[in-house]
Amino acid sequence: MSNSVIHDVVIVGGGGAGLRAAIAIAEHNPQFSVAMVSKVYPMRSHTVAAEGGAAAVIKPNDSLEDHIYDTISGSDWLADQDAVELFVNEAPREMLQLEHWGCPWSRDPDGSVAVRPFGGMKIERTWFAADKTGFHMLHSLFQTTLKYKNITRYDEHFATKLLIDEGRCCGTAAIELRTGQMHAVLGKSVIICTGGAGRVFPFTTNGAIKNGDGMSMAYRAGVALKDMEFIQYHPTGLPGTGILITEASRGEGGILVNKHGDRYLKDYDLGNPLDVNDPSHPQKRTMELGPRDKLSQCFIHEMEKGNTIETKYGHVVYLDLRHLGKKKIDKKIPFVRELSTNYAGVDPVHEPIPVRPVVHYVMGGIDTDIEGATSISGLFAAGECACVSLNGANRLGSNSLTELLVFGARAGHGAARYATDNPEVNVNTLEKQADDEQKRISRDYINKTGGTERIVTIRNEMHEAMEGGAGIYRDEKSLTATCNKLAELRERFKKLSLDDHTLSFNTELTAAIELDYMIDVAQAIAHSALARTESRGSHQRLDYTGRDDEKFLNHSMTYHDGDDAKPRIDYKPVTITKWPPAKRTYGADSGLSKENSAQ
Ligand code: FUM
Repeated sequence: MSNSVIHDVVIVGGGGAGLRAAIAIAEHNPQFSVAMVSKVYPMRSHTVAAEGGAAAVIKPNDSLEDHIYDTISGSDWLADQDAVELFVNEAPREMLQLEHWGCPWSRDPDGSVAVRPFGGMKIERTWFAADKTGFHMLHSLFQTTLKYKNITRYDEHFATKLLIDEGRCCGTAAIELRTGQMHAVLGKSVIICTGGAGRVFPFTTNGAIKNGDGMSMAYRAGVALKDMEFIQYHPTGLPGTGILITEASRGEGGILVNKHGDRYLKDYDLGNPLDVNDPSHPQKRTMELGPRDKLSQCFIHEMEKGNTIETKYGHVVYLDLRHLGKKKIDKKIPFVRELSTNYAGVDPVHEPIPVRPVVHYVMGGIDTDIEGATSISGLFAAGECACVSLNGANRLGSNSLTELLVFGARAGHGAARYATDNPEVNVNTLEKQADDEQKRISRDYINKTGGTERIVTIRNEMHEAMEGGAGIYRDEKSLTATCNKLAELRERFKKLSLDDHTLSFNTELTAAIELDYMIDVAQAIAHSALARTESRGSHQRLDYTGRDDEKFLNHSMTYHDGDDAKPRIDYKPVTITKWPPAKRTYGADSGLSKENSAQ
């Protein structure tokens, strides 16, 4: 039998979005009890790994209009413009609020908040705390939640299923990892804040916990996953590990060179109308701050031209920071130096860092409106697991940390309002569902023997299929092969059995359930990519090279209709308010300051 607890609002996920939502609920109604269910301790959530910064308009040379336009253009016009406007307008207040909660934003000499340039943004607006921004943001949020007695944490509780009663979400079933006991964590509303799914791919900046858990749970419950074909490759991952070398290193003046020492980006159209070949131009280095999708695509072209360097971890180019000097590196990007030295044996003060594109972010996710509400009554989502849609076909670096604040808070308020209006919960029915879920876990994993499939085999084959068929460039043939492979893996997953049949901290069990989640997400990515016969942002089809606004100024909506082999894909229009589709540009009329643009 499962245990059950009841709260007003249940949050699944304890990272930045979950913590921000919890604070919003606690402030919304101090009488409300909030449950926060997380498979790790909050400070181990992936938000901690974010490095470069969080975007919000603060400086006099910037404007809300510019941030809105950069985000829409960066998204290749797939972002919903009402969501973007709202986000940009609320961002500065959220960022200042975080400072009041203790976030140590780096400062300019005059004491004002410092900002740095970031990719695809024509004006520097990225707030930072050296290059450990995620750590400081998460810490500030976490310590703030500690002052609210009405927030109860269920750390190391692994959510496996949403509990739905007559079309309304009222909690989650979650395994307490220490005991293996199933709990029904019930509430009047639920917010999913479980982060992204980079682990669907083999080479990623994402921590091992980012398996698309919440996306899959919502999808299985009937919510559409939106725009899943848009996967962000960050251009500068450390070969071997996938550790992020932050875009801040280019924002601070780092350059990318190929094996000939050539700044190869000058040979590509990045949408920058400036003449980046002119060495006297003060904005010449904006080519390294082009949008991530385009920079990652340039890497592939350089590789095809034979201009990359072959290493035991695959092809790389070099990120050269040497001209910045030790003092600047140690002050502005100390973590880059630490990571490169420890994980690549390269001290960037003296040597260029080998880098290659790495899966970093899923632009798509659980379909929500601007209050974080999903199509299931009482179910909300925020952060990377959600698609509101702010990021469209390509997210601009540093928008996502701010996104988790703005939309974490909104989802918190939305869920709190919903809980106020819908106070009754049918406890017996929900407990019965959690009991059934416990039986399923016992039957399919704990008590099952004799299966012929192993987790690692299926996971490796999924990785190979995703990287090979649904990577930076795709086409019908590669995507069809990936879809077929995933259908095969979905079937083979049924023949999985574990070696570990114990209950306490059974990491083999959690890895199996995470793999189950990842196959769902992988199928949503591959099938939506196959159906989108155009190229837009991070979704580049070799067989359909142009953007097709007539047919595809639409969000893809992927539904799990009960067919394990194949999801159903539908579309809904993008919300356009004031900015009709145009060619993507960045860097025009750049407001980069003189000091920042000097090398
Ligand atoms: O490069 C970075 O620091 C990444 C930032 C982001 O993804 O927003």
